[in-house]
Amino acid sequence: MWAPCPFHQEKSASFHVDDRKGYYYCFGCHAKGDALGFIKETENVSFMEAVEILAREAGMPMPTRDPLAQQKADRRTQLTDVMEQALQFFRLQLNTSAGADARGYLTGRGLTQEALDRFEIGFAPETWQGLWDHLTGKSVEEELILAVGLAKPSSKGKRPYDTFRNRIIFPIRDPQGRSIGFGGRAMDPNDNAKYLNSPETELFDKGRSLYNYGPAREATGKGEPLILAEGYMDVIALVEAGFGAAVAPLGTAISETQLQLMWRVSDEPIIALDGDTAGIRAAQRVMDLALPLLEAGKSLRFAVMPAGQDPDDLIRSGGPATMQQLLDTARPMVDLLWEREIYGKNFDSPERKAALDKILREKLRLIKDPSIRGHYGQAVKDMRWELFRPKSQSRRFMPKGATVPIQPQATTRSSSLASSSEHSNVLRQSVILASLLKTPEALATVEGQLEELQFVKPQHRDIQRFLLQYSGPVEGVWDAAGQVFGMECLDVLLGLPHVQIAPSVRHCNDVELVISCLQQEFAQMFATAAHGREVAEAVQDLSDLDDEGLTWRLSESAKHVQRTTQGSQEDTTEYKTATNGLKVKLEEQKTLDSLLEQIRFSKPN
Ligand code: UTP
Ligand code: MN
Repeated sequence: MWAPCPFHQEKSASFHVDDRKGYYYCFGCHAKGDALGFIKETENVSFMEAVEILAREAGMPMPTRDPLAQQKADRRTQLTDVMEQALQFFRLQLNTSAGADARGYLTGRGLTQEALDRFEIGFAPETWQGLWDHLTGKSVEEELILAVGLAKPSSKGKRPYDTFRNRIIFPIRDPQGRSIGFGGRAMDPNDNAKYLNSPETELFDKGRSLYNYGPAREATGKGEPLILAEGYMDVIALVEAGFGAAVAPLGTAISETQLQLMWRVSDEPIIALDGDTAGIRAAQRVMDLALPLLEAGKSLRFAVMPAGQDPDDLIRSGGPATMQQLLDTARPMVDLLWEREIYGKNFDSPERKAALDKILREKLRLIKDPSIRGHYGQAVKDMRWELFRPKSQSRRFMPKGATVPIQPQATTRSSSLASSSEHSNVLRQSVILASLLKTPEALATVEGQLEELQFVKPQHRDIQRFLLQYSGPVEGVWDAAGQVFGMECLDVLLGLPHVQIAPSVRHCNDVELVISCLQQEFAQMFATAAHGREVAEAVQDLSDLDDEGLTWRLSESAKHVQRTTQGSQEDTTEYKTATNGLKVKLEEQKTLDSLLEQIRFSKPN
C-alpha cells in the first residue's frame, strides 16, 4: 500500500506499507518500522501502550499475570462499558428538544458541530432518573452504575438519582481512550456548583488523569507545545485554535503525578492558568510542586494571561495569534519565583534584603538537582544584582567622582583557591611519575588511579599516557621512557629535590612500600580535587547568598582533605608495626610534607 507519509510533509505518496511482511518504509524520509513502531511514533506512546492499543484493536486479550489481575481487568471493562453507554446517552440528549438550550449555549460560546463531535460533548437532562432509567432499562447492573459515580443512593430510601442533571457533559478519557469520568457544567447560573465532576471511582483517579491527555500526547509527538490550562472550555478553545496539545486538571489542584505525566511527553510544558488571583495562586502552587522535581532537561514555562482572562477568553478576543504570542513569550520558572518574592515589597533596609535572601535560599534549596540549583542560584543572583545595584550605575552619565562599588568576583575567589593547591599538586604529581618510572612493578596496582588523575603539566600528561600504554616487560620501562622522553629529561625529574627525598623514590626497591605511598598520594590528590570542585561550584552558585548548607558542604569536603592528609602520617605509623616488617620513617614523610607546605606558601600569588 502506498500513501502520503505521515512522518513528513509531502503531496505524492512515498510511504509504503507491506502488510504481509508487517513493516512500513518511507522512501522520502526513510522512516521505517513495524506495526508497534508505527503506533509508538504516531501516537507517541510507550511500547507496552502500543501493544495494548493494537491488542484491543485486534480483539486480543492482553496477557495477564495472574487470575486476580484478569478479574480486575474484567471489572474495569464492565465499568468502562457502563461509562461508554452513559456517554452515548448524553450525546443523544444534546440533540433532543430537552437539549435545545444547551445547544444554544454551546453555539453561543462559539463551538462548532465539529468541536462538539471531537470532544463528544453531551447533555444531562433535568430529570432525576433519566440516565438511571436508561441504563437499567438496558439491564445494566445497578451496582455498576453506582460504582462509576453516575448515580447516588437516595438517603430517603427512594430510588438512586442521577449525579448529573441539567448539565453540559464533557467526557474524560484515559490515555488509552477509555471513558473514565465526566465533567458537567451547570446550565442554570444559580446552580451552586458551576462545574461538577465525576467522583473518584475505581476508574477515575483525578490526581492521575488529565483532560485531553491522549490527543495532547499525540500532538506533542508532532512537535506541538504541551499547554496546561485550567478548565475544559480552555482546552477546547485551545485545540480549536490549533494548539492541539492542551490539557487540564479535573477540578483538583495539580498533583505531582500530573506534572510527571506532562513531563513524560514534553520537556517544557507551558503553564497557562487563568489571569485571576485563583489562577496565579494555582500557578505558584505548580511552581512549588515542581521545584524539587526539576531535573536536567525537564522544566516549566509560564504564560501569564492578561488580568481576569483565561485562554478561552483570550482566544475569543484576540484570536490564535495573540495566544501564540503569549506562548512564545512564556517565561522561565525562575523569573516567576523571583517576582513572587519581590512583588509589591520594599527592600530599603539590610534586614529586608536579608529576609529576601533567606526566603530565596529556602526555595532554591528545594531543588534537588545540583546543576539546576546552580543555574537557578546564578539567575537569582543576577536579578538580585539588577535590583539592588546602586542606581548611579544604571544612569547613562556617571557624576564625576562617583565610585563604582567593588564587587567580590566569583572568578577571582575561586582561582586563588585553585592555584594554591595547584602548585603542590604539580610537585606531588612529579613524585608519582618518578616513583612509577623507578618502580614499574607498582603500576599494575595503581593503574586505575593513574588513569583518573588529572595531571597539571602537559609533560606529566605525556608520561602518564606513556605509563598507561606501555606493554613491554616491566624491567624495560625505564629505558623505553628514556628513549621517548630523553634520559636527561628523566634525570631532571628524578633530580628534583622533593622527588629525591620522597620515600617512594628512595625505597624504590620496596614495591609494597612504594604502592602504599602512591595510594596515599592519589587519595589525597583526589580529595583535594573534589574539594576544589565543590568550592568552585559553590562559589559560582551562590556567592551572594551565604548558605548554611553550603558552608556545611565545604567544611565536610575540607575535613575529607584533612583526613587524607593526616592519614599519610597516621598510616606511616602503621607501616612501622605492620606484620610484613616494612619500615618507613615517619620523619621522611613529614619532611616531604613540610617541604611541600613551604614551597606552597613561598609561592608568590
Ligand atoms: P473555571 O470556572 O475557570 O472554568 O474553572 P472555565 O473553563 O473558564 O469555565 P467557563 O468558561 O465559565 O465555562 C476551571 C475548572 O475548574 C473546575 C472545572 O474543572 C473547570 O473546568 N471547576 C470550576 C470545578 O470543578 N467546579 C467549579 O465549581 C468550578
Ligand atoms: Mn472560561
